[in-house]
Amino acid sequence: MTHALKRMADAKVLATGHQNQGFKGMERALLAGEDMIVFDGVSKVYGEAPALHSTNLNVRKGEFLSLLGPSGSGKSTILNIIAGAIAPTTGRIFLDGKDVSTVPPRDRQLGMVFQNYALLPHLNVFDNVAFPLRIRGASASEIREKVGNALERVGLNGYEKRKPREMSGGQQQRVGIARCIVYSPSVILMDEPLGALDKKLRDQLQGEIKRLHRELGTTLVYVTHDQEEALNLSDRVCLMNGGRIAQLGTPDELYFEPVSEFVADFVGESNLFDAIVVDKSTVQVEAGWNIEVRTTEGHAKGDRVKVLVRPEKVVATSAQDVGEKAGPGENHCAGVVSQVSFVGGMTRFDVALPNGRVVLAKGISSRAVERSPMGCPMELRWSARDSVVLK
Ligand SMILES: Nc1ncnc2c1ncn2[C@@H]1O[C@H](COP(=O)(O)OP(=O)(O)O)[C@@H](O)[C@H]1O
Ligand SMILES: [Mg+2]
Repeated sequence: MTHALKRMADAKVLATGHQNQGFKGMERALLAGEDMIVFDGVSKVYGEAPALHSTNLNVRKGEFLSLLGPSGSGKSTILNIIAGAIAPTTGRIFLDGKDVSTVPPRDRQLGMVFQNYALLPHLNVFDNVAFPLRIRGASASEIREKVGNALERVGLNGYEKRKPREMSGGQQQRVGIARCIVYSPSVILMDEPLGALDKKLRDQLQGEIKRLHRELGTTLVYVTHDQEEALNLSDRVCLMNGGRIAQLGTPDELYFEPVSEFVADFVGESNLFDAIVVDKSTVQVEAGWNIEVRTTEGHAKGDRVKVLVRPEKVVATSAQDVGEKAGPGENHCAGVVSQVSFVGGMTRFDVALPNGRVVLAKGISSRAVERSPMGCPMELRWSARDSVVLK
């Protein structure tokens, strides 16, 4: 964008802000100089149905933020509102402190990577990657240099003359990524970029995207419905549910301190107990069965709460190997194995307690699978520290 155009755009934005909404949101965004993207009460309604309820959201400069959630939860809506491809029903969007709510997509200086690659089939790799530079009027020498750099970054030197159809899915997506980074956008948006690839390639490209983000230092917003992918890649994860933010936090916070049952369930596997608060470190799951928890702070005696225990925090021991009983700060129960799931390096036991409840325990796979088959008695124990009362 030329300086004159930019000034005009800014002036227009200022005028709109002044007449319609005042400066409150804008001041807030400008004061928070750390933020690259700010949503101020942004919503999107189609007909009657809100695809996105009124949302405040901030993405920090240089951050890798994932939008995670089930299908239809509003992830792509957020991404497309950032890109300018969808106009919000209410609210304002700030990019690097500037209100861009009325700035058209091309002038937002964003790079986009799509699930279906969206390459131009009749152009070869070089021309596909050069495309954004050409529409910006770059010189031939600048194009040669920048396309060369971008292709090198994604490991595609030597593929310049190939057509997209002569390349594998993984290679095509590398072209898509090269085309996105070639003009050094200040924000990169990716909508399920690995969704069309098989597991092994997905893992490999995840690593490459992570490395690229580190090298470029660009703000990156990444849409995925795959919780492992989100946890692995992101500085922070924004978990969406039904057009609302369910939780925004670091992967650690979402995993170990989920704010709701939905978050606990969506991110990783969980044991969730309905319980009643007894005192500051004890809850009752049922008559005669209390669990020691980290803390019941914020809840009163008698409150109904949910307690989360991650399966890998539950130590399962074949009953014949059990030594001493549970000590202070430790929980203990016993049952029989009702299912064994062997998942790669991890084994999960579903252990049925006498009261009918099933507790999941997960650990690094060993020959224990053979020693603890279905129907065998098993002792479970876990620490009070790992019993988290949901807020
Ligand atoms: N153009 C549209 N018209 C009507 N409803 C739409 C449109 N685009 C999206 N939606 C609805 O908005 C909701 C959120 O969609 P989307 O953001 O694409 O979800 P996600 O990317 O999380 O799968 C969905 O219920 C979807 O059906
Ligand atoms: Mg989507």
